[in-house]
Amino acid sequence: MDATPRSTDAAPRSPSRRAALALGAVTALVAGTVGVGAAAAPATPASAPGHAAAKDRGKPAYLNPRLSTEKRVKDLLSRMTLAEKIGQMTQAERANATPADVTELGLGSILSGGGSVPADNSPEGWADMVDAFQDGALATRLKIPVLYGVDAVHGHGNLYGATVFPHNIGLGATRDPKLVEKAAHITAEETRATGPQWNFAPCLCVARDDRWGRTYESFGESPRLVSQMAVAVRGFQGRRGQLDNPDRVLATPKHFAGDGLTTFGTAAGDYTIDQGITIVSRQEFARLALAPYWPAIQRYGAGSVMPSFSSVDWTEDGVGNPLKMHAHSELLTGVLKRRMGFDGFVISDWEGIHQIPGDWNTQVRTAINAGVDMAMEPAQFRQFITALTEEVEAGRVSMRRIDDAVSRILAQKFELGLFEKPYTDRRHLDEVGSRQHRKVAREAVAKSQVLLKNRGRVLPLSKRAPLYVAGSNADNIGNQAGGWTLTWQGGSTNVIPGTTILEGIEDATRGDVTVSETAAEPVPSDATGVVVVGETPYAEGFGDVGGPQWAYDPGDNGVPRPVKDMKLSAADQQAVDKVCTQAAECVVIVVSGRPLEIPPALLSKIDGLVAGWLPGSEGDGVADVLFGKKRFTGRLPVTWPRSVDQEPINVGDADYDPLYPYGFGLRTR
Ligand code: BGC
Ligand code: BGC
Repeated sequence: MDATPRSTDAAPRSPSRRAALALGAVTALVAGTVGVGAAAAPATPASAPGHAAAKDRGKPAYLNPRLSTEKRVKDLLSRMTLAEKIGQMTQAERANATPADVTELGLGSILSGGGSVPADNSPEGWADMVDAFQDGALATRLKIPVLYGVDAVHGHGNLYGATVFPHNIGLGATRDPKLVEKAAHITAEETRATGPQWNFAPCLCVARDDRWGRTYESFGESPRLVSQMAVAVRGFQGRRGQLDNPDRVLATPKHFAGDGLTTFGTAAGDYTIDQGITIVSRQEFARLALAPYWPAIQRYGAGSVMPSFSSVDWTEDGVGNPLKMHAHSELLTGVLKRRMGFDGFVISDWEGIHQIPGDWNTQVRTAINAGVDMAMEPAQFRQFITALTEEVEAGRVSMRRIDDAVSRILAQKFELGLFEKPYTDRRHLDEVGSRQHRKVAREAVAKSQVLLKNRGRVLPLSKRAPLYVAGSNADNIGNQAGGWTLTWQGGSTNVIPGTTILEGIEDATRGDVTVSETAAEPVPSDATGVVVVGETPYAEGFGDVGGPQWAYDPGDNGVPRPVKDMKLSAADQQAVDKVCTQAAECVVIVVSGRPLEIPPALLSKIDGLVAGWLPGSEGDGVADVLFGKKRFTGRLPVTWPRSVDQEPINVGDADYDPLYPYGFGLRTR
């Protein structure tokens, strides 16, 4: 869509007036009279006395839902000042912006960063907060509704009481695209019912090196598998034309592209791989990074896309010439918008523009000219507006580019039905975290469990056998939910409503259960041991192997979380060793965002080994497969290495020698 302010067919009722308005805007722009903050002030003849006459002739065309989105966009665009247009291209964070800022600046969008929640973190609290920002938007001259975005990456995880699904790595293990679509639909319903109409998901990252802290956000290492799971876009948005339903949200395939393909050691600061450099040939890039975006865009019509923080370095050009994805016009405009035909809008990642080389105005100009349509500027939204205004006035960003960006944003707002129903439709509010939703999550958990070893057919377990349950992740719902749960980094003390794996086991068994997290209690020799071990939560580069420590959550009590190493902690290893030596038989469940190293000496003592991933709020899904209520059917979405030194290791490698290959998974009857 490339609407220009002068197009006359955009104004079926009064073409001449529309053209005059557009000219007014352009004239004002050239004269430099339209600046930041002009959104609420009369800047064009539209708010002059002549407006009353327009009212008499009925509503402006853009408010007529019977007209096509294209016509409505053109009409609205023709009425907008430069300041109003740039406002639409700007997104601020809820903690840094007020509804009054939305009115003053005409902000197009507000987001909640990870853990950025209203004081009343309830479904009603969320809906009230979003509606308050909407009040601010509807107080503007043109009443363009604000779009509210969140990271509902495994359910509406910021919201207390939401259904929390397994992270994508577990969903990849299910090999069940229908289930993934259903989970995304439920997430969309819980999200939209509480206000936000926009989800920064799904991650279509193809995780090629599990040392990456975002591996769990990936459906797997195979571009084919990730492409199948791109159906999540339809789960969020529905089929074409359903975006205005009260149970749908705008989807955002991210992070375009190559986020899971960066080379270890190329990241900036304390990160080791996240946001680093993707060094491959164009052909490999197309195969491993771009592939999932084709179905996401052409088949499912994704309405927005988020570029990656990472850089791309085509190897044929020689190493040492990396270009940030936020500045990559060849990929953002040439490939995504032109070749793939993406007609939604590009939202920059969190201050992603700041990582482009150069001064602030250069960064802003470069990103917008490369194809970024809306800027996620959590704190510096005013500075963004100032810089972009200057760049347009200086002629370094064209009005054509601005109009294209704004048209794309407005089109999605029309498709979402926001002009007709700007406020939260709360009819599904009671379904947040409902039994029905949790049932689907539980099913996803059961299907995501991958059985890696089953010596002597230890699994399924008998319901009558005495059990001895140990390990750091047996009874910790924060650990089993992982990052992006209540807070950005997640946490061991982030308690959400749901069921831990231990609680699921206790509900399922009729035998005696002894519980001892550290396995300090004596282990009865006739007991079956279940040891649930694994990682503590993290997000993004804080999960990189050898990455930085995180100690900012109150629940951490100032104790930094361990630097990640893809290994079992000493305490977990001791618990496994003791229980598996002393119990009659033992099952180990690894709860983690990626494969962890299992030393051979330890593995030989384990009878049953399960990859549990990050199941989320419904731990009873794990018990369902442990006790044979459901069969084990999950298959590895990533290769399970013998040691972390084998990373990166992926199916198809020449010297492929993993502990368990991609696609592996035993079944039970
Ligand atoms: C992440 C994105 C996320 C955004 C907003 C960024 O740090 O890379 O995936 O959507 O923050 O929370
Ligand atoms: C926010 C996240 C964001 C991150 C980026 C955090 O403070 O909560 O949403 O992705 O910062 O650095």
